[in-house]
Amino acid sequence: MKHLELNKGSKFPLLGLGTWKSEPGEVANAVIEAVKIGYRHIDCAAIYGNEKEIGEALNNLFQDGIVKREDLFITSKLWNDKHGEENVIPALQKSLEDLQLEYLDLYLIHWPVPMKTNSAGDKSDDYYTEEEMPISTTWKAMEKSVEMGLVKNIGVSNFGIKKLQKLIDNSVIKPAVNQVELNPYFQQLELFEFCNENNIALTAYSPLGSNDRPANLKKADEPILLEDESLKLIADEKDCSVAQLILAWVQERGISVIPKSVNPTRLRQNFESSDIDLTTEDLLKIKAVNKDRRFVDGAFWVVDDGPHTIQNLWE
Ligand code: A2P
Repeated sequence: MKHLELNKGSKFPLLGLGTWKSEPGEVANAVIEAVKIGYRHIDCAAIYGNEKEIGEALNNLFQDGIVKREDLFITSKLWNDKHGEENVIPALQKSLEDLQLEYLDLYLIHWPVPMKTNSAGDKSDDYYTEEEMPISTTWKAMEKSVEMGLVKNIGVSNFGIKKLQKLIDNSVIKPAVNQVELNPYFQQLELFEFCNENNIALTAYSPLGSNDRPANLKKADEPILLEDESLKLIADEKDCSVAQLILAWVQERGISVIPKSVNPTRLRQNFESSDIDLTTEDLLKIKAVNKDRRFVDGAFWVVDDGPHTIQNLWE
């Protein structure tokens, strides 16, 4: 398993298991199977609604001596309605309790979208403005979680360059990771360069296009990434699947990737993508597939008279 080194020296596996959209009834098996195959990073989040089942799976793996805690890298994320200095540590403790862990390897602010406690985000009143709830306030508590030994590394998700720069300028502990959508249709060239210059590791979510997203997060006319004809041609030449080709390409760029699967065959197939070598020519062909098109466009945070627009969300 290849690793990146995070800004405080932690080893960060290049390939991990995504758990967004993994149903509670399926996720425990997926985690156990994945760890047996060799996965060492499990990407979780409170909002995925399955951390309890993942915690049971982890506990079983430790009890059965299949893996040790210190050999795993576990990520979780702070949900939008838990921003703010007083809310972060209790939210983190809830994730730790559900995951049955003493510490996380990485805790991320899930979205730069602070919402009022227990609100759903369907009306403007649910949202704080940047002035009411600056990200730096939440970040102070994230830093405190490191000091308390609850978390080894802290970072963000869904942050653009402007927001990252502001956070860097207003922080003591710099963000170690930014987790964003990244796949051949949305290659994140500029953000990747910025993160490299600032020693922030990038993690790619929805690397396979997340075709299992709920219907309300899908557009009628959207393309299916895994059916892309150009990618199929390259994958055929290399005698691998399109999914494997994509995952190999992300890792080849030095970006960590967290494909979701609950299927043992596909879990193994995805894991084996680490062994696929790509030539400069392959990389150029994949670069040409870029559409600068997001599957997860954040439109769900844009409400009438609310503080977010698609434009300012991704800045
Ligand atoms: P499943 O969980 O049944 O394997 P993403 O990681 O971009 O969110 O994509 C996840 C989707 O891709 C899920 O529908 C998952 O289904 C599917 N998937 C995961 N691995 C593969 C693979 N190797 N080939 C085809 N589909 C895959």
